Amino acid sequence: LMADSLFIINNYAREYFTDTLFNKPEGQNVGLSYFEERGFTEETIKKFQLGYCLNTFDSFAKSALDKGYNLEYLQKTGLVTIRNDQPADNYRGRVIFPIHNQSGKILGFGARILVKSDRAPKYINSPENEIYVKSRVLYGTYFARHAIDKLNECLLVEGYTDVISLHQAGVENVVASSGTSLTQDQLRLIKKYTNNLTILYDGDSAGVKAALRGLDMAIEEGLNVKLVLLPDKEDPDSYVQKIGAEAFREFIKEHKQDFVLFKLQLSMQEAGTDSNKKSQLVNEIAETISKIDKAEDFTRQQDYIRQCSQLLHIDEQGLIQLVNKFIR
Ligand code: CTP
Ligand code: MN
Ligand code: MN
Ligand code: MN
Ligand code: MN
Repeated sequence: LMADSLFIINNYAREYFTDTLFNKPEGQNVGLSYFEERGFTEETIKKFQLGYCLNTFDSFAKSALDKGYNLEYLQKTGLVTIRNDQPADNYRGRVIFPIHNQSGKILGFGARILVKSDRAPKYINSPENEIYVKSRVLYGTYFARHAIDKLNECLLVEGYTDVISLHQAGVENVVASSGTSLTQDQLRLIKKYTNNLTILYDGDSAGVKAALRGLDMAIEEGLNVKLVLLPDKEDPDSYVQKIGAEAFREFIKEHKQDFVLFKLQLSMQEAGTDSNKKSQLVNEIAETISKIDKAEDFTRQQDYIRQCSQLLHIDEQGLIQLVNKFIR
């Protein structure tokens, strides 16, 4: 089967890249040093099976073709590309982050450039293929699933390195959306493990806006959504490396807020005294509240109605009527 072949190739590549990282001079001097400078321990690097792709034209491609792997399949995985009519390594000179499925098989890779450049993207990710469908994957699920289950909460961050640094700090119930806005499939994946989703984004991030757009979808899926805003210019990785594991965990605890109420307060600030905008935001919040399945969570819906009508200085009965208009 095609899917099996792609898994086998990805697994071969993962072994090749970790071997390069630990055993080849360039891997050690460039790749391993990079991870060490970012504060990743050897244990962490091994756990996440991080690797390095040599900065050569085709070392990996040659080795894989010698092994007998099919060129067409190698191209499908994105590991090999054709350059000047020759099979060439797509991730050359980059550190490698394997992306695992829930049972630990490798779906694809993220490959990061070592020094930021205007000429090349920071990350190159595997193309979509028979096994890698971006909208269905959350980075880190394989490593997080037991902790999510045990703590009955899933933390959501933006990036690979956020997941990795948090694990190293002892926060293991964390997955990453890998920079995209949340999809329904990803929310359902979370819902398999827990009803409680806590989004951890940087304060200045476009990610918060994207998350706001996904809020109704998350609520419809029956998730209880919280938000932690990090200080400006920090992401979970940079911040935990800066303040340390214990302070970081404390920060999360203290700054966790309800996402629906956060959204309301944000819209209220934006609306100011504009009465059109105000009535529009009342409608929007009523619609959001209406997505909570009453049968499933009646008290939660009531709580939101009470809290939102207080914040808005409007009559609770009025808001209930408005909410009911959206329920059909
Ligand atoms: N991303 C991507 N392609 C890019 C930039 C980002 O696929 N050119 C995805 C990656 O999954 C990345 C996530 O979006 O992990 C978040 O992006 P960003 O915050 O810019 O990167 P970090 O994860 O913080 O990576 P680093 O700390 O290595 O800069
Ligand atoms: Mn960011
Ligand atoms: Mn930022
Ligand atoms: Mn970062
Ligand atoms: Mn980031």
